[in-house]
Amino acid sequence: MTARSDSRPPFTSLRSKNPAEIFGGLRTPCYILDEAKLRENGQILADLAAGTGCKILLAQKAFSNFDLYPVLAEYLAGTEASGLYEARLGQEAMPGKEVHVFSAAYRKDEWNALLRYADHIVFNSPRQLETFGPSAKRAGKSIGLRINPECSTQEGHALYDPCAPGSRLGVTRAQWDLQMRPESVALLDGLHFHTLCEQDADALWTTLDAVEQRFGDILPRMQWLNFGGGHHITRPGYDLSLLEQCIRRARSSWNLAVYLEPGEACALNAGYLAARVLDIVQNGATSIAILDASAACHMPDVLEMPYLPPLYGAGKPGKYPCCCRLAGPTCLAGDVIGDYSFPSPLHTGDLLLFGDMAIYTTCKNNTFNGMPLPDILVLKEDGRIETSAAFSYSDFKKRLGGRLS
Ligand SMILES: Cc1ncc(COP(=O)(O)O)c(C=O)c1O
Repeated sequence: MTARSDSRPPFTSLRSKNPAEIFGGLRTPCYILDEAKLRENGQILADLAAGTGCKILLAQKAFSNFDLYPVLAEYLAGTEASGLYEARLGQEAMPGKEVHVFSAAYRKDEWNALLRYADHIVFNSPRQLETFGPSAKRAGKSIGLRINPECSTQEGHALYDPCAPGSRLGVTRAQWDLQMRPESVALLDGLHFHTLCEQDADALWTTLDAVEQRFGDILPRMQWLNFGGGHHITRPGYDLSLLEQCIRRARSSWNLAVYLEPGEACALNAGYLAARVLDIVQNGATSIAILDASAACHMPDVLEMPYLPPLYGAGKPGKYPCCCRLAGPTCLAGDVIGDYSFPSPLHTGDLLLFGDMAIYTTCKNNTFNGMPLPDILVLKEDGRIETSAAFSYSDFKKRLGGRLS
């Protein structure tokens, strides 16, 4: 590991300490969640809520390391879930806080259990609302419908654009007009939209224009509007004052409560993946370091998004003199983290620290190739490192069978 210090946002929380000093004794690969950074993010979100009167929920799909929910609970109104298990986790691990759930389609066989855990239930279609809405209402739940304002604010990124043509997510105004019966409309307490991905508040403002144009006649009858996630609120440089204007605009135009359910913004830059170099191979002009961490298994969004994860002390090719491709140890030819440059050549045994590894990471990893799951550690505010989860061969094996006699 290079000794050069790295003060880019994913690493500011290390406060100029070299990762080898703090993490050099750890068995790799491992994730390290950063409690101080979570608190910093939480404070930004709490200030926003206090200043505007909005309520902010943790979207658990991005971060569900529940040992740290008590930290976030100090700043947030509750959790958002994508289904039964996350709803249950939210209720269990953030007790007394709100539990919202949105799923593209609910299952009959899970419905009664879901009613035990969720207090706000958002439906994706008029048919689902008709099927489940009346029993949700009888159970005293607050009921919402996801709308599709048909306003794409991100180009060439259909995988993460719920407003892309043909999207299954949210009811368009045309479908609303065709399918919404008055008795279904009467069930609704709120509307929900989720259209953004890692975006700033200007995209939200544009989206609100579309929401107003398409659903402006309906919103005054609602008690709440949920702006979904994708707001990169805790990213340095994010336009917080425009976000505040968006919230005030919705509250004053339609006289309703505003919810936000960011995932990334809650845990942005609040985690690391520590790995070591196992070998360095050469193919023509390309040097490739094979790590004990895999893109495919341990940071799947690197391949799915795709993106180049920030690496402590390293830059893009060309920034520093020594170029090296970093890759995982699995059989997948494409298990490549990316090409980086370093101030000096890498060696076997070197410790590498990837940043921004708390979100969409520990909740998405897998054991393809029999790769062990990295332990999940917590860097406490006082500098201690504690183990939150540890994995072994039995975790790999028990997901694959073992119940046949
Ligand atoms: C309905 C919904 N809410 C919230 C989120 C959280 O988004 P992010 O983590 O980008 O803030 C997502 C992400 O896909 C989502 O689908």
